[in-house]
Amino acid sequence: SCKGPFKILVLPGDGIGPEIIKEAVKVLKALGEKKGITFNFQYGLIGGAAIDERGVPLPEETVELGNQCDAILLGAVGGPKWDNLPPEIRPELGGLLKIRKVFDLYANLRPVMFFPELKNASPLKPDIIEGVDILMVRELTGGLYFGEKKRFTTEQGEQAVIDTLIYTEKEVERVVRLGFELAQKRRGKLTLVDKANVLESSRFWREITEEIKKEYPDVELSYMYVDNCAMQLIRNPRQFDVIVTENMFGDILTDEGSVLAGSIGLLPSASLNGKFGLYEPIHGSAPDIAGQNKANPLATILSAGMMLRYSLDCPEEALLIEKAVKAVLQKGYRTGDILEPGTTLVTCEEMGDLVAEEILGGV
Ligand code: NAI
Ligand code: MG
Repeated sequence: SCKGPFKILVLPGDGIGPEIIKEAVKVLKALGEKKGITFNFQYGLIGGAAIDERGVPLPEETVELGNQCDAILLGAVGGPKWDNLPPEIRPELGGLLKIRKVFDLYANLRPVMFFPELKNASPLKPDIIEGVDILMVRELTGGLYFGEKKRFTTEQGEQAVIDTLIYTEKEVERVVRLGFELAQKRRGKLTLVDKANVLESSRFWREITEEIKKEYPDVELSYMYVDNCAMQLIRNPRQFDVIVTENMFGDILTDEGSVLAGSIGLLPSASLNGKFGLYEPIHGSAPDIAGQNKANPLATILSAGMMLRYSLDCPEEALLIEKAVKAVLQKGYRTGDILEPGTTLVTCEEMGDLVAEEILGGV
């Protein structure tokens, strides 16, 4: 059951990172108090903050702390101060991409959630976006982005280039299996998105998926070409439950998915290796509003909710966080990024307080 003690590595990072992380930790502490769960928070350095203090974007001590923890909660990294460093020692590549690699976080989960309280946030018509609840699963450590790349000259003397799309059976199996597991716990629908009409790799994914399907007879499996999926996400997004796809298609589709729901300040994410995971908002460090107590902490708070669900076996407690967020929105409180006529502007800190109070006061 969900009692802990849970060891959480907290990595505030840069820009608004420390501000939003503070509110997410506040909410977890309130939940712990309400439900008798023990959280042990360890703090570590990543990104520009780590460069300033240790000279590197991902210090060894941060990795060691991560190894001893149940999950990682991260704010965001990067900012103009570190933009002129060589790419590999910049916060984004040397910090964030590296920590994903070090912990082999092969599955990136991004929910696309409709918030009925934010009617005008979505670019889609209300009758299309209403009720949308999609979980996108992107393979994160293989495929085209990590295959061999090279430039060469053809026999005709023309410049040419190769990028390699490579997946092993094991890499496909683990992420597809996760997709089935997640679908089973949700509405039982899984869509594998690919380009099997032209790509051999897609046919390979389908063969493996057909085998795994036998173990999940209660999950309804369908296949969809990626170009069609890009359209369907806009035309009829309610048809989807869990979507699983390879790295590059997932990169593009998750960005498309993120605008469906509205504000970037609302969407959480998880990057998993089995039960272990790194949880972070999908947005960046927002240097333009850093240090002004203006940022929306809800994406980070909802990321903490995902952590409870996927790494800590606390599904009911995850739901409690989601309900508290919805209740606060329902009462009309908004940070600047989601402010609408007739709603009440609150600071980052006040938003965290409101969610924490909702958890402590609610049943
Ligand atoms: P960004 O997501 O930081 O900001 C884009 C816009 O959205 C800005 O106007 C910002 O003020 C706003 N915004 C973002 N999060 C918000 C929040 N929680 N509440 C209210 N408004 C919010 O993306 P941008 O500007 O492209 O990148 C800024 C820095 O962040 C760069 O150094 C970039 O490399 C880094 N970055 C880091 C990521 C990460 O740590 N996962 C992801 C994306 C960018
Ligand atoms: Mg992207």
